[in-house]
Amino acid sequence: MGLLVALDRPGGYEELVGKLCSRVDGFKLGLPLLMARGPGYAGLLRRRCRDALWVADLKLADIGYVMRLTAGLVAEHVDAVIAHGFVGVEGALGELKDYLDSLGKRLVVVASMSHPGAREAYDHALPRILETLERLRPWGVVAPATRPGVVGIVRRRLGPGVAIMSPGVGAQGAEPGSALCAGADYEIVGRAITGSGDPVEAAERIRREQEARLSNC
Ligand code: C5P
Repeated sequence: MGLLVALDRPGGYEELVGKLCSRVDGFKLGLPLLMARGPGYAGLLRRRCRDALWVADLKLADIGYVMRLTAGLVAEHVDAVIAHGFVGVEGALGELKDYLDSLGKRLVVVASMSHPGAREAYDHALPRILETLERLRPWGVVAPATRPGVVGIVRRRLGPGVAIMSPGVGAQGAEPGSALCAGADYEIVGRAITGSGDPVEAAERIRREQEARLSNC
């Protein structure tokens, strides 16, 4: 059972990371934060919570050369980097994966997104993206907690060896534990924790709700 906290809003998170460190499994750093504070800020935060999983959510979608350059700016400070799945393996995700492998870092690929508009194109492309994922075998896949059916499809297709992380719990409407029941390893929660008056209490409550839901899957 995993909980990752999405840190998106530009701001200072040193104190929050310290408080949440023993209560969550990791942190996902969004582009607004990384662009505002610079890639080195990821390293500064990481020093507050070294054993957590640190993921740079760059949502890369470019040719391999450019994705490598972009990922290379932050890779030393994180464990994993997120890229979009629709750009394909040849000349894109394959190159990025080889590059991250050479650094000892992990690639996480988006299979679909959590917002309603993902139904317009992303979900139609899912069969093709699953083929890409099967060939590429990334360490992790992002699949939406808001549509647990998609999480289940990814798990059944890719098997137990891939880490599935699911955003959409809380602010986007999915219940804590719903994606875990569908096969995800981690649920990603942003605003329901970071926008709460008491983020520590919010994270602890979400943990309890995950456990309760998981025991009744
Ligand atoms: O605040 P909230 O919990 O809705 O944040 C969800 C996080 O997950 C954001 O950082 C968003 O970028 C991310 N995300 C998503 N859907 C995806 C991939 C990432 O909502 N497919």
